[in-house]
Amino acid sequence: MIPLELAACPTAQALRAKDALGVPVVAIDTLRAATTSAAALENGAGEIWPVRSVEAAFARRERLQGALLGGERQMLPVAGFDAGNSPFDYPPGRVAGRSVVLTTTNGTLALTRAHKASGAAFAALRTAHLAANWLEACGAPRAVIALAGTGGGFSYEDALAAGAIAARLPGARLDDLMRTCLSAFRAALRNLPRELAETPHGQRLIARGFADDVAYAAQVFAGTVLPVRDEQKKGRLVAWRGA
Ligand code: MLT
Repeated sequence: MIPLELAACPTAQALRAKDALGVPVVAIDTLRAATTSAAALENGAGEIWPVRSVEAAFARRERLQGALLGGERQMLPVAGFDAGNSPFDYPPGRVAGRSVVLTTTNGTLALTRAHKASGAAFAALRTAHLAANWLEACGAPRAVIALAGTGGGFSYEDALAAGAIAARLPGARLDDLMRTCLSAFRAALRNLPRELAETPHGQRLIARGFADDVAYAAQVFAGTVLPVRDEQKKGRLVAWRGA
């Protein structure tokens, strides 16, 4: 069997449509959009609609009956939204059976830039094992791991999740950035909560009162559901539990 080739893209902004064309893409935003999307689906949300702007989020909610509007700007909930970007904003009692419209600064950007991909998943440390399984199930010879980053810059916490995916795909051929991510993940594995807490974005979140979110996001391989794009209705993410 030909080994899967994995190439990493360092930021959402660096992901060009042609890089994603016709290959599966795993977009990564460990802190926090991909972690939160998985939490909402795990808690019973029916679907997630990731959108780029606040205006698009309000417009999408109009079209979806009973939808919950969530996300952040500057890490905080947006005026008029029902929820922020914390995984704890999406408990079962609030999300079960509902649609969620989500807009975040970097995570939803990475995902929407992958629109020409043959398939797209939204992953983080908690769901890295499922992302690896999903890539195997896709059966493609090549895939792109698109790190969301922060504000156009590279994010260590996204690199750790990319490395966690690579760790679950031992036969894969890795490009230099993926190889670096794998080494970083192996080195950080012993103390992921501290590693995440010490990142610049982890520090900003903790300063804003989101220390629990950072600790939750550090729970590698703990998730049970991976958000993946519905290829029939491409704008939405649905729960993937395994092949
Ligand atoms: C983002 O998409 O930029 C992040 O999820 C921001 C955040 O931590 O809320």
